[in-house]
Amino acid sequence: MTVGSFTSISLDPPLVGFFVDSGSTTLKQVMTSGVFTVNFLDDRSEALSHTFSGGPANRFAGIPLVSAPPGAPRLAGASGWLDCVLETRVQIGDHDLVVGRVVQVDVPAVPRSPLIFLGGAHRSLGAHTPPDSPPGSSLDAVDSPAE
Ligand SMILES: Cc1cc2nc3c(=O)[nH]c(=O)nc-3n(C[C@H](O)[C@H](O)[C@H](O)COP(=O)(O)O)c2cc1C
Repeated sequence: MTVGSFTSISLDPPLVGFFVDSGSTTLKQVMTSGVFTVNFLDDRSEALSHTFSGGPANRFAGIPLVSAPPGAPRLAGASGWLDCVLETRVQIGDHDLVVGRVVQVDVPAVPRSPLIFLGGAHRSLGAHTPPDSPPGSSLDAVDSPAE
């Protein structure tokens, strides 16, 4: 699933987490398997964001994966991966906090511009934005407003 609530939590031990709707199909799969993989999306990966925020049926159909530890769904179009083992889950209102222990990291030495979701649109930070640009101008829209 597409997640905007991802956050790092702890360095020692290495823990990350995200907030997920309690009715999520991905949450059920994480609870059953005990593992999940974080795929980082950059500003070339907007299509993946749409695919994984749509319905869960056949979500992985036609999506290239790269070789990874057993159970880790690493998307070839992602720009980095964290393979995690479920550490804990905390129910908070109508969402759950899922916490994972990072067991493997693969990220590029030089990160690409991240994919941003703001004001109903996917955006890029832009590589060459002048530092004195007016507020908001550094977020270049890369699609039409959606979701
Ligand atoms: C940019 C973006 C960020 C999102 N972030 C979250 C999130 O943090 N938590 C969440 O529960 N859903 C989030 N969603 C919505 C889910 O991706 C969407 O509801 C998805 O279909 C859920 O899949 P599931 O049925 O496997 O749970 C986000 C959607 C978008 C487009």
